[in-house]
Amino acid sequence: MPSTRSSSAPKKQQSGTSPFPRLDAERKTQVCIIGAGPAGLTVHQAMAQIGVTSVVIEARSRQYVQNRVRAGLVEPGTVRILDDLGVGQKLLRDAACHKGLLLQLDDTSARVPFGDITGEPVYMYPQQHIVRDLISASDPQRILFDTEAVNVETGSLDAAVTVNHAGRHFRVKCDFIVGADGAHGASRRSLPDERKKSYERDYGIDWLGILAETAPLADELIYSCSARGFALHSMRGESQSRLYLQVPRGSSPSWTDDRIWQELDYRLSPGAARIRRGDITERTAVKLKAFQLENPQYRRLFLIGDAAHTVPPSAAKGLNLAVEDAACLAQALWAWYQDHERGGLDRYASKAAQRAWLAQMFSAEMTRLLHVLPGDTQFDTKTRTARWQRIVDNPIALRDFADHYVGIARR
Ligand code: FAD
Ligand code: DHB
Repeated sequence: MPSTRSSSAPKKQQSGTSPFPRLDAERKTQVCIIGAGPAGLTVHQAMAQIGVTSVVIEARSRQYVQNRVRAGLVEPGTVRILDDLGVGQKLLRDAACHKGLLLQLDDTSARVPFGDITGEPVYMYPQQHIVRDLISASDPQRILFDTEAVNVETGSLDAAVTVNHAGRHFRVKCDFIVGADGAHGASRRSLPDERKKSYERDYGIDWLGILAETAPLADELIYSCSARGFALHSMRGESQSRLYLQVPRGSSPSWTDDRIWQELDYRLSPGAARIRRGDITERTAVKLKAFQLENPQYRRLFLIGDAAHTVPPSAAKGLNLAVEDAACLAQALWAWYQDHERGGLDRYASKAAQRAWLAQMFSAEMTRLLHVLPGDTQFDTKTRTARWQRIVDNPIALRDFADHYVGIARR
C-alpha cells in the first residue's frame, strides 16, 4: 500500500481554520467522520496528512474516550500503519514486544513461538493510548466531542450528517461520510433495509475483564481452557495485569473480587504460578458475538471498524481490523482527492469484507478452541483436544495459527 503521506498538494483543499465556529448553521467539510475510536481517528489523521479537511463527530467526552479500557494487543501491521501516519513513536517506545504465547488446555500447556515462526512480534499497548496519541496529533478544533450524530443522509453526489450538541442541532455537509461509530452507532442504523444484510453468531457467553494492580505472573500471554471454561492472562506494563474470564451471559455483576481471583487461580493453573492479588481498578463485560455486514458501503457512506463488523475478542482482532479498514479507506479517498480515481472507493467494501472474514474465521476458531460453550457435549471436548494437539504438534497447523495471530494471513 502506498503511504498515505503525500508531498504533492491535493487538488481540493479547504482552509485549516475551525470548521464550526458556531454550532447552529449548516457547515461543510470534505470528509465527515462519525466516531473518535481508533478507526475514525486513523482516517482523520490520514486525511490531515494529505490536506483533505475532515471533522470527527464524537458522542462522548474527550476524557471518556481517552480513558476507555479495551484492547491491548496490537499487530505489527497496525503498528506500521500508525507509524506511517506519524503517530507510532510512543507506541514503539513504550509497548512491550511479544514473540510467544502459552496455549493451555486443562493441565497441559505449550508455547507458541509465533515471533520465530513468522519473523514478526505483536505489541502490547493499551487501545486508549492509541486513541490519545491520535487525538494529540490532531487539530483539537476538528474533533467535536459531546456531539452525537443523529441523522445520516447520503445521495450519490453529496452527503450530510445532522448532529446534536447540547440540544442544538446542526447539519454538516460533506463529500463522504465515514461511519466509524462502533456496533451501536448511527451509521449502521441509517442503512436502508435492503442494505442491512448481515451475518451473525452469538456464542451465548460473556467475558469478564479486569484490570488489577498486580504484576503480571508471566512475561507472555496465557490463553487457557479448563473444564470450567476460558481464562486469559494479559498485562498493561510491569505492575498491572489484565485478566479475562469466560462467565455465563449477564452474570458479570454477581462476581465478587474473591470469586474472580479464585477462578483465575483455578483456570490459569498449573501452567502458571498463583497470581498475587491486587486492587481491581476496572471491570469490563463483553458479549462473545460476531457480526458482519454483507456490504459496508452505501453511496457516499463507508462503514469501518466495529460499525462494519464485530468479532468476539478471543483473537484480539477488532482494533487491528478497525485500523486496517481505516488505512484502506484513507488510501481510496487519497486517490479520489488526488486524481478523481474512484476505483479504490469502489473496491473498498469487498476488500474490507474479505479481510474481515479471515479475522472472523480465526476468531471463531479461537473461540471454539478455548471456551466451553453452552450446549457443548463430550464430542466438543474431544474435538477441541484434537484441534489443540494438531496446532501444537503439526508445523503446518502451527504456522497457520501463528500467521493468523500476528495478522500476516490477512495481508
Ligand atoms: P469504537 O472504539 O467502538 O469507537 C466508536 C466511537 O463512536 C466511540 O467513541 C463511540 O462513543 C462513538 N459513537 C457511537 N455512536 C455515535 C454517534 N451516534 N455519534 C457520534 N459518535 C458515536 N481488539 C483488538 O484488536 N485487540 C484486543 O486485544 C482487543 N481486546 C478487546 C478487549 C475488550 C474487553 C473489548 C471490549 C474489545 C477488545 N477488542 C480488541 C476490540 C476493540 O476494542 C474494538 O474492535 C475497537 O474499539 C473498534 O474500534 P472502532 O473505532 O471501530 O470503534
Ligand atoms: C487482550 C485482549 C484480547 O482479546 C486478547 O486476545 C489478548 C489480549 C488484552 O486486552 O490485553
